[in-house]
Amino acid sequence: MFGKYFTNKPDISQRTVLDMKPVLYQPNEVKTDDIFYTVYRNLEVIGGKLRYDITEIPPQKMVPPAGREFPKTFGHYHKARNPELYEVLDGRAYFLLQKYAGDPAEIEEAYIVEAGAGEKAIIPPGFGHLSINIGSEKLVLGNWIGLVEYDYETIKKFHGGCYYVLLARRLGLRSFGEGGNFNEGEDKRDSIEFEKNSNYKSVPELKKLKLRDLPELGIKNGAAHPILDLKNSPEKLDWLVNSEKYMDLLTIKKLYKEI
Ligand SMILES: [Fe+2]
Repeated sequence: MFGKYFTNKPDISQRTVLDMKPVLYQPNEVKTDDIFYTVYRNLEVIGGKLRYDITEIPPQKMVPPAGREFPKTFGHYHKARNPELYEVLDGRAYFLLQKYAGDPAEIEEAYIVEAGAGEKAIIPPGFGHLSINIGSEKLVLGNWIGLVEYDYETIKKFHGGCYYVLLARRLGLRSFGEGGNFNEGEDKRDSIEFEKNSNYKSVPELKKLKLRDLPELGIKNGAAHPILDLKNSPEKLDWLVNSEKYMDLLTIKKLYKEI
């Protein structure tokens, strides 16, 4: 399906609802083994050092495969603390970012990055992260990343990220439209609750962020500035490969504004 747009045939990996069970808020609600999300890796590769992937996360359904929790990716840390660049290509996303200092049970910083179509997110070095579909449509994400090894075990050990993103209890299943999905165009941010994951020893309060425009990195919010175009100026992606040179810039404060 991506053949016309991308240089490479992707390596496809999928996670089913059962695969996700270890990190779900309500693992016992799992009643199906549908596909939870799909990742198309290596659609573009630059110099063997950078790759462009796409992730598709279907929306919540009338009978949610995971109870009240919004659909999400498994979540991971990057072993070598690589940063990562995302863009929402379609749909509405929350990115959960979390960081610990010594003990992975003691989270010191936790953020939600809000992003709609055309908006970008950067995972700064050292942050564990996962992507959440809070919209009524399929969430489609593009990302650039350098050579990376993943640590899924730390997130698995604590049964998910440090917050669960849930449909507000007061709304229950009434929010799900008759067609099986949320009503078209409905803004569900008011219908969302954040619950601290009690499997962690300590979890800070969440702050909500949006990415700033970052001309020095060639990054601008808006669908007119797709990150895929950066394949034509790979020098602007050097911070993903040689992040140690860019540590002054790759901080939450420099990259984001609080909302
Ligand atoms: Fe990642």
